[in-house]
Amino acid sequence: MTSLKPHLVDTYNRHLNYLRVSITDRCNLSCIYCKPDRCVPKLEHKDILSYEEILRLMDIVIPLGITKVRLTGGEPLVRQGVCDFISRLAVLDGLKDVSLTTNGIFLKDKLKRIKEAGIRRLNVSLDSLDPKKYEQITGVDGFQKVWEGLEMAREMGFDPIKVNVVVMRSINDNELLDFARLTFQYPYHVRFIEYMPIGVNESDHFFKYMPTSLLQEKINAYRKLIPVPRGPNDGPSQRFRFEKSLGEIGFISPMSHHFCRTCNRLRLTASGKLRPCLLSNREIDIRGPLRSGASDHELADIFRKAALSKEAEHHLTPEHPLGKISQMSSIGG
Ligand code: 5AD
Repeated sequence: MTSLKPHLVDTYNRHLNYLRVSITDRCNLSCIYCKPDRCVPKLEHKDILSYEEILRLMDIVIPLGITKVRLTGGEPLVRQGVCDFISRLAVLDGLKDVSLTTNGIFLKDKLKRIKEAGIRRLNVSLDSLDPKKYEQITGVDGFQKVWEGLEMAREMGFDPIKVNVVVMRSINDNELLDFARLTFQYPYHVRFIEYMPIGVNESDHFFKYMPTSLLQEKINAYRKLIPVPRGPNDGPSQRFRFEKSLGEIGFISPMSHHFCRTCNRLRLTASGKLRPCLLSNREIDIRGPLRSGASDHELADIFRKAALSKEAEHHLTPEHPLGKISQMSSIGG
């Protein structure tokens, strides 16, 4: 008999109830901070967990206490059959929250199916409101598509719609107030994410990083940021709003105020590895055992062991980039 605890609890007594599932390493964008096309060879189809395999793992991990699942990529909406998969996932007993992080390019085409599948919460990555700059950052002339996707999601009643902005000095920091002002007009939750120096372009990492404190100072000088009380299921975002705004402004500070102490996440990569920390290359293979006939019990133990191997905190600092974490594209942020 195993002496492991029934639920996913790590050695620091963090209860892991949030699984981020990357369903593909492929992406239709090539963002300057990620560039999946350049830095990582694409996985072959056989190396990616099938939807059946992911659903089997879900059946095993939900009884271990996972209540929240987020689908990521690469770009999750590029994988064939994703809407059917979401429909099967979203009805699993025990899951309270199934959501999706997308770059929004295919959003318009898929929203109806996503809604039918039961998803109401969306995170859309959008790093510029200027179509030209959007193209410079992502390599694709796609701003209009993303914007229309956001509008349609709002009209269809998705709530909340979070807009993730990775702030990069001298690249999009001049759009800070434009993004913040969006919340007067739209109910979006604009979230400014500190740029994490991972992967490519190591030499200019340091120069891109801008701490949340600086962003808040700039926004506060424009209008007062009013704190929004935290909800029970809130993630690491610090939430604010302007007086009379429809939306919210959030700050996610993985660098200046890392939230490791309260991290409740485990990640399943597209290739079937469990990754206890986004910012550590430690991974535990679950695809191998899954494909070589492991029992549910044995697979559950692999999840538990992965939880126990979660480190206390990450060691990424602006001065010490982690160049070796080159698979952001297959981990999904
Ligand atoms: N630093 C900060 N955020 C990043 N993301 C991807 N790479 C980085 C990085 N180096 C963000 C994406 C997406 C979320 C899943 O992670 O923009 O919104």
